[in-house]
Amino acid sequence: MKRREKIAALTAYDFPMARLLDEVGIPLILVGDSLGMVVLGYPDTTCVTMNDMVHHVSAAARAKPRALLAADLPYHSYQTVESAVANAKRLIDAGAEAVKAEGGREILPQVQAIVSSGIPFLGHLGMLPQHVLEEGGYRVKGKNDPEHQALLADSDALAQAGAFAIVLELVAPAVAVELTQRLPVPTIGIGAGPDCDGQILVTPDLLGMLPWYSLKHVKPKLNAAEQMRSVVQQWKQSVVNGS
Ligand code: KIV
Repeated sequence: MKRREKIAALTAYDFPMARLLDEVGIPLILVGDSLGMVVLGYPDTTCVTMNDMVHHVSAAARAKPRALLAADLPYHSYQTVESAVANAKRLIDAGAEAVKAEGGREILPQVQAIVSSGIPFLGHLGMLPQHVLEEGGYRVKGKNDPEHQALLADSDALAQAGAFAIVLELVAPAVAVELTQRLPVPTIGIGAGPDCDGQILVTPDLLGMLPWYSLKHVKPKLNAAEQMRSVVQQWKQSVVNGS
């Protein structure tokens, strides 16, 4: 789809969400490890396990989406080449058609092994949520020269290793444009400006399902949390009133 059509990608963690997104024609659905924060109630993605991912990938896959269904390899599931390939295969067996892992040159042997085993690989550069504890928070990447150079080298390495696309999370927009022009594969931005080949969002953020925090890069298009509260409140009242 690069240079032909912008890619609108979203996350799903279960059957109804995957089915709804697919019915709308979303071409890439990601069972992200954002699962940990937006479904499982953890403070970040580092608590998500392979068992969590397999459970939710299986549920999303039951929607049999026409979309490409990708799934995240969670924290510490791809530290070695052997574990990366074995865990990527587990996600594929659960119904994913591609896997994503966070990082560039430091995970290149794992990426090469995953691709060599026939599993499509989606890269993820910029802010890497699985490293949020070491980093001490979420921040934009690529604003200084070392980070800019690292993004160029990492994205080139991932593309050469066979990644079919690269998610750019919280990458300085000017750097995201440069990567988008330079790479042969699509860039899919999240908080990386409007000029990537596509955009991805965490669906509950788009729908306003998590009113307890706000994000700079996404303005909810629906106040789902408020609507749910209101409907539940009205129903509760009708039960209490016996009406
Ligand atoms: O886990 C996730 O949802 C992600 C984002 C890029 C959407 O990795």
